[in-house]
Amino acid sequence: TKVGILGVPFECGQPKKGVSQGPDAIRKAGLMEQLSAIHDKMDIKDYGNISYTVNRELEASVPNMKGYAEIVGCTHEVSKNVEKIMKEGRMCLTLGGDHSIAMATVDGHIKAKDNEVCLLWIDAHADCNTNKTTPSGNVHGMPMALIPYELSDYWPHLPGMDWHKPVMSIRNVAYIGLRSVDSYERLIIEKLGITAFFMADVESYGINTVVNMALDRIDPERTRSIHVSYDIDSLDTLEAPSTGTSVRGGLTLREGIQIMEMVHSTGRLGAMDLVEVNPHIGSEGDVKKTVEAAIHVILAAFGYNRRGYRTQDTLPL
Ligand code: ARG
Ligand code: MN
Ligand code: MN
Ligand code: MN
Repeated sequence: TKVGILGVPFECGQPKKGVSQGPDAIRKAGLMEQLSAIHDKMDIKDYGNISYTVNRELEASVPNMKGYAEIVGCTHEVSKNVEKIMKEGRMCLTLGGDHSIAMATVDGHIKAKDNEVCLLWIDAHADCNTNKTTPSGNVHGMPMALIPYELSDYWPHLPGMDWHKPVMSIRNVAYIGLRSVDSYERLIIEKLGITAFFMADVESYGINTVVNMALDRIDPERTRSIHVSYDIDSLDTLEAPSTGTSVRGGLTLREGIQIMEMVHSTGRLGAMDLVEVNPHIGSEGDVKKTVEAAIHVILAAFGYNRRGYRTQDTLPL
């Protein structure tokens, strides 16, 4: 299993300081060591944190998109890095940072795999506002509106974003875990018929059925490379308190792990984002709990199995 880790210490897509410390907090808790220990064929390479430059002339060039100049500078770099890591034959694990970076990780994945990609968006929020529907101006609530071509006509010209070509269809996208959706987002989901499993659906079907239905819808041929964009706030506040826009009534860690074990078992995981861990929110214990939850979910994605592993058939004498 070849994995490349990319840190994106970016927080301009939302107003709270600290989410840029997510990648280093997750690393410090032993991510590399635990990934490497899954089995002896793990080949993990840490590409470090990205750096980028900001073109100040782009500042405030699009209404209702806070931090626009930073977002342009950062996302272009993220896309190039994800594409490069995947073209080196590795799955790419991107550690955020806020969720605005996902438009770039998906873009890089699409470029590396010639658009043969499907997308699972695990989140309390739909993150599909445009700059005209956003209640906040925070770009971490917009990446899903920037990814599919079906929504590209709803955006004004985005200066500095010419590298970003929305080529993925919304038919290849599914949400799991939604429970805080703005009314225009609900309209977008219904109008475009986006596959969306809200918490109520997790409740009625159970997580296994939800994941199977989601994969059936977004990848009926079972051929596409899977991108999972995992917002830690999909988990309940009790499981992941240290995040900027926590919503009670979310996924248990058990459900959160189950999703990634199921994705792993398809053998088609291409890239994963783990975003919105903010080590400046909550107590020391809250941060520890949140980071541990993030690591459990990541380990499941790359092959850690709660059943243990098979060895030879006989016990040592
Ligand atoms: N829907 C709200 C907004 O547009 C909240 C988005 C929260 N997004 C997130 N990635 N945590 O501002
Ligand atoms: Mn969220
Ligand atoms: Mn999100
Ligand atoms: Mn454990």
